[in-house]
Amino acid sequence: MIAIGSDHAGYRYKENTKLLLSSLHEEFIDYGTTSEESTDYPDYAALVSQAIISGQATRGILICGTGIGMCIAANKFPGIRAAVCESVASARLAREHNNANILCIGERITPWEKAIEIISVFLNTPFDGGERHCRRVEKLNRLPNL
Ligand code: RB5
Repeated sequence: MIAIGSDHAGYRYKENTKLLLSSLHEEFIDYGTTSEESTDYPDYAALVSQAIISGQATRGILICGTGIGMCIAANKFPGIRAAVCESVASARLAREHNNANILCIGERITPWEKAIEIISVFLNTPFDGGERHCRRVEKLNRLPNL
């Protein structure tokens, strides 16, 4: 299950993402927002992060103007590894090396055709699972949440 969310600046891409996920036969839950009316990205980052922490979803996609605000907010939650990806290479490496569980995309930054590739690669790339990557990801869980 994939949890998706956006603020107003990512709303159009979120709606596109729903069509994309349907065409890929991926199940999703849409946590909003529901229009292009101005809203606050931390609210949707929190909903999607909590869906992953609770086990309702295994991955998340968060979209705002840049992807940055969503990423900052989601990474406040222990167990969340959110990555802003503007390239296919960063989407692949975020999965292989960082075991990222949330993809953040900037609607004002990334063309939709590129976003399609980024989303597909993020969803289809497994964690590398090698000892050094496991060790580093495990260390993330032990960093202080001050
Ligand atoms: C909204 O204008 C914009 O600031 C927001 O979508 C996002 O880009 C923040 O990181």
